Amino acid sequence: TMRDNGRLKIAIQKSGRLADMSLKLLEKCGISLAKSRDQLLCMADNFPLDVFLVRDDDIPAFLATNVCQLGILGQNALLEQQANENGKYAELKEVMALGYGKCRLSIAVPNDFDYKDITSLSGKTIATSYRGLLAKYLAEKNVSADIVTMQGAVEVAPRTHLADVICDLVSTGNTLKSNGLRETDIVMQSQAVVIKNEIKDVEINSICEKLIARLRAVLRAEN
Ligand code: PRP
Ligand code: ZN
Ligand code: MG
Repeated sequence: TMRDNGRLKIAIQKSGRLADMSLKLLEKCGISLAKSRDQLLCMADNFPLDVFLVRDDDIPAFLATNVCQLGILGQNALLEQQANENGKYAELKEVMALGYGKCRLSIAVPNDFDYKDITSLSGKTIATSYRGLLAKYLAEKNVSADIVTMQGAVEVAPRTHLADVICDLVSTGNTLKSNGLRETDIVMQSQAVVIKNEIKDVEINSICEKLIARLRAVLRAEN
């Protein structure tokens, strides 16, 4: 079966901020992926690697169930799922940071919001897709606020009165700017990372080590 075909399996984002860079990175490792891209799966023809193209939020689950042994995703996505899933993803380890997909998870408030410091958020409603990381941050700061979880389009929450402020990813800052929001607190910095599950199969593990060595060589050459 596909599951035990003796090949290493890596899960990467199928579309979104990390997708193209992740495919390019594999190509820079000398891995040639079939041109006609299947919706789910790409098989390398010169390296024993299968690439699963999936939603970034699903990558930890692909590893935890051992469908894939490696993944590339944002630190933010990994840490959020680890914060929420109660130990389910504790085994997943960050192997290396990749230097792309840089962004930060930040709190942002409407331009006319009277913000002095984090305590200004006490009793307010905060919209986010990162409940786990935001809740941790607020607890550390001893601030109690209501969190509303949204799957996307978090930036519209204040305008629609769904929430007073937001906590979302920022990279260029354009989304905040065009929605009349300003950044007040950085909850975490993030970038793309390689994550790995424990690999019991000796052969798969040695393929994995080969790939990681190639990734390190590519990054060294670029820096
Ligand atoms: C993130 C975030 C903002 C945008 C910020 O969304 O939710 O919408 O990027 O980037 P900027 O500062 O460069 O404008 P993303 O593109 O990751 O997609 P999603 O909202 O669909 O998850
Ligand atoms: Zn996503
Ligand atoms: Mg967005």
